[in-house]
Amino acid sequence: MPAVTTATASLVPFAPSSNVAQLKESATIAVSARARALKAAGRQVIDLGAGEPDFDTPVFIRRAAQKAIDSGATRYTATEGILPLREAIAAQANALYRGTDPVKPGDVVVSTGSKQSLFNTCFVLFGAGDEVLVPTPSWTSYYEMVVLAKAAPVPVFGSRSRGLKVTAGELADAATPRTRGVMLNSPCNPTGSVYSAEELRDILALAADRGWWVVSDEIYLQIAYDAPATSVLSLVPDRERLILINGVAKSYAMTGWRIGWAIAPRAVSASMTALQSHTTSNAAAVSQHAAVAALTDTAAAEAAVTEMVRHFRARRDAAMDVLDAAGVQYVRPEGAFYLYIDVGGDGAEFATRLLDSSGIAVVPGSAFLTPEWVRVSYAAPIEHVVEGVRKLVAAL
Ligand SMILES: Cc1ncc(COP(=O)(O)O)c(C=O)c1O
Repeated sequence: MPAVTTATASLVPFAPSSNVAQLKESATIAVSARARALKAAGRQVIDLGAGEPDFDTPVFIRRAAQKAIDSGATRYTATEGILPLREAIAAQANALYRGTDPVKPGDVVVSTGSKQSLFNTCFVLFGAGDEVLVPTPSWTSYYEMVVLAKAAPVPVFGSRSRGLKVTAGELADAATPRTRGVMLNSPCNPTGSVYSAEELRDILALAADRGWWVVSDEIYLQIAYDAPATSVLSLVPDRERLILINGVAKSYAMTGWRIGWAIAPRAVSASMTALQSHTTSNAAAVSQHAAVAALTDTAAAEAAVTEMVRHFRARRDAAMDVLDAAGVQYVRPEGAFYLYIDVGGDGAEFATRLLDSSGIAVVPGSAFLTPEWVRVSYAAPIEHVVEGVRKLVAAL
């Protein structure tokens, strides 16, 4: 066997490969990490940057997970997820779906968070030379995932008068012969805007007309305040060009369990499963069993979700009172748990100043390609939300 040498003279210093050379760290995760570091150093910090519910996972879900561990759910599962979970996901989807090809368990791929489902989707659908329309502002990772797939994200900016939502007409204007798909997210991170059934219908009709893939990320669907948010599943006649993304993280306070899924036409779900079989394999077995409980114990789940949404609504209303009294411009959120606030200048500079001088962590809008804004998460105790928003207003 050749001897292992420690000669380093000829070693080239690390440079990221072209696969990731352009990749930026998730700004939302970076803000939370910075807030945590300041806290660890003894600073008082109110973290309004995190995109995760501050509630504990409901007890009935934790109990189901404990039972699953004791019953041996400690091994690999099928790459695409255990059948009872895929059946429960299909049943939940079919309760909304009105089209001709009901969701079957084989159309479902369970992944390590909906983040992986979205990555799988972008990687199997898009490639070099393709363009993907991204209504903007949008969740920061869509842009990076499309780039990782070697395709080009095309931001389409929504207008203020419509809560920064885009119209079918604006998408049509941004399209080229290379357009392959559109990313939808309603309720939206970072704005909290919710697309009406009519707005979605127009976009779906355009996509169908052009043969685009529609990727609908409905992770915040159950967190809506004024009226139930509309799933595109309830609007499409068939699912031939639809990828539906959802997960348990936000609705059931299960961020750390890492369970998300994609519902796709069979050929696409097979391709995602093949991709996942070479990357992460199955999502954690015990988490899958916990997710089964979340989706099948509907009475307990509904009670838990209703209670969490009640808290989110109270915080949203309290924060809006502070902003309205000060005449601050923001998007009125109808869902999710974010307030998107116009700071009328450099949002990154503002967010840094707010954290350093007042100990309030928010996410700069540059993460969502709209640098004059900041995102405030109200997934925090109401007194923190109110104090944080008051300090934000004072800093403005
Ligand atoms: C719009 C959106 N989609 C997907 C995700 C990822 O969620 P998960 O925890 O299921 O990976 C997030 C998390 O912040 C999100 O805001």
